[in-house]
Amino acid sequence: MMQGGKMVEIVIVKDYNEMSKKAAKIVTTQINGKPNSVLGFATGDTPRGMYEELIKLYNNGNVDFADIKAFNLDEYYGLEKENPQSYHYYMMENLFRHVNIKNENIHIPEGMAESIEIECEEYENKIKKVGGIDLQVLGIGRNGHIGFNEPDLKFEARTHFVKLDDDTIKANSRFFSSIQEMPTKAISMGIKTIMQAKKIILLASGKEKRDAIFKAVRGETTPEVPASVLQRHPNVIVIVDEETAALL
Ligand code: PGA
Repeated sequence: MMQGGKMVEIVIVKDYNEMSKKAAKIVTTQINGKPNSVLGFATGDTPRGMYEELIKLYNNGNVDFADIKAFNLDEYYGLEKENPQSYHYYMMENLFRHVNIKNENIHIPEGMAESIEIECEEYENKIKKVGGIDLQVLGIGRNGHIGFNEPDLKFEARTHFVKLDDDTIKANSRFFSSIQEMPTKAISMGIKTIMQAKKIILLASGKEKRDAIFKAVRGETTPEVPASVLQRHPNVIVIVDEETAALL
């Protein structure tokens, strides 16, 4: 379905469960069609259900992670991999330790890197070396961010050091015991890195994402709403539940 003359395909599903199942099906189809796919993964509450579905599909023999390569969108600056709030930890707990992905094929920016600059450059090079991302999974922040690309960042950005937006700090502090413990900086793939993925799925559920999704798919393409850049990508599927889709 083409909406408003734009290339973004919008799939409206009943609820979070359906969103998760639909997303897992797209990931599975991608892997089954190309067993050595390069997958871009996201963290946060949104994709948890999709990972649960993928684990079920794996346990039932419907998908095999043996040859896939994974690149995560982002990581907090200054958190050790073992920190339960790190995105390394999240990915291990929510997906990687439950499936047969090889350790050497797991890539997540290193939040403790001595040189952030070198880490960012190497991350980009690693993605390039494997031929780019075949399928990128995205969530969306209430401020319209994708990855940790906060509003007003230039669309040309590649993997870079990020100062988190106040809104993001507030939203994500729910995972920490206090807002003071919440990191204020991160490393994130840039908008340009994301836009080079061959295919993208953007997931959103719940009414607090309604406005961001509306602006992303119906609004003007502007760095003020980072996700709106996806209107310029030729192969994006936005999967939203009925609550999120209410304004579309
Ligand atoms: P959430 O985060 O899935 O935890 O809502 C999404 C995001 O900030 O990109």
